[in-house]
Amino acid sequence: MFRPTVVRVLLVCLALLLAACGGPPAAPTGSGGAPPPAATPTGLLTPESLDRDFTDSAERQAAREALVERWIAPRVADPRVVAALRAVPRHSFIPTYLLDSAYNDHPLPIGYGQTISQPSLVAMMTELLDLQPGERVLEIGTGSGYQAAILAELDAEVYSVEIIPELAATARAVLDRLGYPDVHIDRRDGYYGWEEHAPYDAIIVTAAPDHLPQPLAAQLTDGGRMVIPIGPVGNVQTLWLVTREGDEVGMERLLDVMFVPFTREGE
Ligand SMILES: C[S@@+](CC[C@H](N)C(=O)[O-])C[C@H]1O[C@@H](n2cnc3c(N)ncnc32)[C@H](O)[C@@H]1O
Repeated sequence: MFRPTVVRVLLVCLALLLAACGGPPAAPTGSGGAPPPAATPTGLLTPESLDRDFTDSAERQAAREALVERWIAPRVADPRVVAALRAVPRHSFIPTYLLDSAYNDHPLPIGYGQTISQPSLVAMMTELLDLQPGERVLEIGTGSGYQAAILAELDAEVYSVEIIPELAATARAVLDRLGYPDVHIDRRDGYYGWEEHAPYDAIIVTAAPDHLPQPLAAQLTDGGRMVIPIGPVGNVQTLWLVTREGDEVGMERLLDVMFVPFTREGE
């Protein structure tokens, strides 16, 4: 039988080996990237192996309610969106070392140099999609899975793609654990959308490309809406509402925002 010290040495060696085989990139300074979640021997993430907390205590519910009252309800008119922000436990989508900040109106690091977006921006972008029950929505940038859960609360048919495999797997496990098994997630470069399930009544992009990806505009229904930040990496970008009427694509400038970069496969 292994002694504890021997087991510890073996675990360290295994971690070094995994890192050498192309583990997650180190988070940039200041982004506070969390360590990657543990995996089962089969490589599948389970809720038990995740660095996530699924307990929705009265204290957390009160903190969520305070966030909604202070930052969401005054800014968002659609009561369905406000209800969605009330219902989804944001604290279950972030690494546990950040639990105390879960219900501040700030973006937070989720590892791999990525973030969960600011709740008021999530609410505002969701409202702009004007989603009706049963409509099909595509999210580019699953990240933590939080925005996808908010969309699912609106009874939409949700498709979400994420370029970083570890984030896609973690989001899948969290959404399953929280009762959102119908949210479809795929690991892919969202520049090309998710053509197999197109067209979409709405598309929400949560990372900023430097131009409007034409494949995304092409995957909107006639009458479809897309909310997308566009602009330079690491600088202020513009949030746009893109609408499609027949073959015409209209663009309305909304406000300045700052999102993580839209990365491309192979970059
Ligand atoms: C601000 S984070 C997403 C926040 C997320 N919506 C949430 O609720 O947590 C942006 C995400 O977009 C992802 N991303 C960036 N470029 C992408 C691409 N080309 N295709 C798919 N996902 C991409 C990033 O890896 C990151 O997870």
